[in-house]
Amino acid sequence: MRKPVIAGNWKLNGTIAEALALVTELKALLPTNENVDVVVCPPFTALGTVAAATTSSAIQLGGQDIFFRQKGAYTGQISGPMLLDCGCKYVIMGHSERRGRFGVPEPDFTDDVLRVFGDNDTTVNLKLRAALANGLIPICCVGEILSERETGQTDDVVRKQVIAALKDVSPEETATVIFAYEPVWAIGTGKVCAADEADRVCGIIRATVASIAGDAAAHAVRIQYGGSVKPDNAQDLLGRPNIDGALVGGASLKAADFAGIVIAAG
Ligand code: PGA
Repeated sequence: MRKPVIAGNWKLNGTIAEALALVTELKALLPTNENVDVVVCPPFTALGTVAAATTSSAIQLGGQDIFFRQKGAYTGQISGPMLLDCGCKYVIMGHSERRGRFGVPEPDFTDDVLRVFGDNDTTVNLKLRAALANGLIPICCVGEILSERETGQTDDVVRKQVIAALKDVSPEETATVIFAYEPVWAIGTGKVCAADEADRVCGIIRATVASIAGDAAAHAVRIQYGGSVKPDNAQDLLGRPNIDGALVGGASLKAADFAGIVIAAG
């Protein structure tokens, strides 16, 4: 059986002191359950402090992004060796908040957010391979935007993102990857994807992995659902055969809610 993995993506939230307070509260609330991997992904600035606070706990650490070069003249970037140095074991790549074309307003966003980070299928693949080369476990996000869902393109979009992400990745390495199915319209909106539908798309991800890397890798690969996961919908989602965990944004900033989701997974 695949071990469920619950990851909290704290995004652009928290001073070092706030991150320490959150993880300290979380440590006190989390049950000791070795059957679930629990990961928090604080901002880069708080990684060292959170790592020190979690050394003797079951909480594991992840980065929110990785650059695909090891070092050099890349202002503002964080590399695999730097994440390892901070105590990270996991790293997210391809989050929808980072995918998109430079400087182009997103039709699906209600505010005036521009896609300033410009990640695409090519850079996501480079980042995933950089994570693997450094011994980090990739959490690779895929998912459709609302207009793609409304025009029946969900399955094709997700398949294409998975195929691109796994380019030049061996079946053995593929088996260690975590995919996060995150329908973009469900992120931070309170609109959770129905559990049956989330499970169906996670099944498409697994079948796509099988077609590229074989059945053993597809069986081993863990697939999270992400998008408005809360303690009250977690059990329904996590009980589905193709959903092996959750990538949690907003609810991971409240220790009691995040702990509730971990309990639902166990
Ligand atoms: P949300 O975010 O839980 O706030 O919807 C999920 C994510 O962005 O990974």
